[in-house]
Amino acid sequence: ASSVLFDNHGRPLEYVRLAVTDRCNLRCFYCMPEEGIKYMPKQQLLTYEEMERLVGLMAGLGVRKVRLTGGEPFVRRDLVPFMARLADIPGIDDISLTTNGVLTAPYVPELARIGVKAVNLSLDTLDQERFARITRRDELPRVMDTFHALLAADIQVKINAVVMDGQNTQDIIPLAELTRDLPVEVRFIEEMPFNGGSHTATPATLPWHHRRIREHLEEHFGALVPLTGAAGATASEYAVAGHVGRIGIIAAYSRTFCGTCNRIRLTAEGGLKTCLYDQGVLDVRALLRGGSSDADIVAALTSAFKYRAANGFEAEQQRPLHQLSFESMSTIGG
Ligand code: GTP
Ligand code: 5AD
Ligand code: SF4
Repeated sequence: ASSVLFDNHGRPLEYVRLAVTDRCNLRCFYCMPEEGIKYMPKQQLLTYEEMERLVGLMAGLGVRKVRLTGGEPFVRRDLVPFMARLADIPGIDDISLTTNGVLTAPYVPELARIGVKAVNLSLDTLDQERFARITRRDELPRVMDTFHALLAADIQVKINAVVMDGQNTQDIIPLAELTRDLPVEVRFIEEMPFNGGSHTATPATLPWHHRRIREHLEEHFGALVPLTGAAGATASEYAVAGHVGRIGIIAAYSRTFCGTCNRIRLTAEGGLKTCLYDQGVLDVRALLRGGSSDADIVAALTSAFKYRAANGFEAEQQRPLHQLSFESMSTIGG
């Protein structure tokens, strides 16, 4: 991009995450309660046209990467044609998505055709019973179909596995073993408290923090070799001797990577977050629907980005008390 916008802490704006829906076809307990969350009425979601306009304006500010999230993105109709239009926006050179893989397999050839090079696949266990317990749906076979379809299409796969004490720690090694013969990155994620429930999932001392995950992996595989990751990446990446793929660890709760954070996010209803942990800093939908000009919207986005919290702890402190534990990741997009 020609110009890049820097925030008040010297961090560039390069990456936007769009939650295209708050709906999901799984019920992962770390993300929402069994009964689900109260979904937004459809007219409150940003339309594809509104999102396209916004991404165009953001591309003008230097954004080059767009990730679609949700909820589950494929629950929304006509997702792939929308992605194709985003990919055509000048300046946008990286378009990808994070999916649970339940509905994704049939779309993989189309994704490849429109130039999607990488997909992040949420998968916390390879065991069918534990999958059904964690997600409250018996959908592991369809997720594995998606995994294999992505590999066959030569789309880069990153597996996202949330590590949950007492739930799937026995899956860490089997998931990591996928990297032995397959060119995938398996990323282990600290659990965060965005579960849409009334309790805080994450205790003061996280039992499976990033260092413990690394130690656990090293007990089995020997020393992990740190790799130089992309600028602004969430994951610390490692090579394992003799493995084709890579391992990543995401300190999402410890928030060790805020100093290079290069992203903003839009919730499904068009709320701007300049940090995953903030309560939303700008109602972009109101601007879009209130007839704001392109210049007005660009000015509002720019000034919001100039007042970012320094890191996820500061953003969390600025929220109304206790609110953090009530929000579902499905409305934020992760
Ligand atoms: P890449 O673009 O492939 O690097 O993926 P990503 O890590 O940016 O996105 P993904 O949707 O795969 O998210 C993986 C995990 O990282 C999820 O648990 C997200 O909630 C978490 N995550 C993503 N961005 C941030 C962030 O800015 N801060 C924190 N604390 N966690 C994040
Ligand atoms: N803690 C950490 N990661 C989470 N995700 C969803 N909820 C949580 C949570 N409470 C992950 C999903 C998905 C990504 C977008 O966020 O596994 O891969
Ligand atoms: Fe960025 Fe906030 Fe995430 Fe830190 S916690 S990386 S500041 S979004």
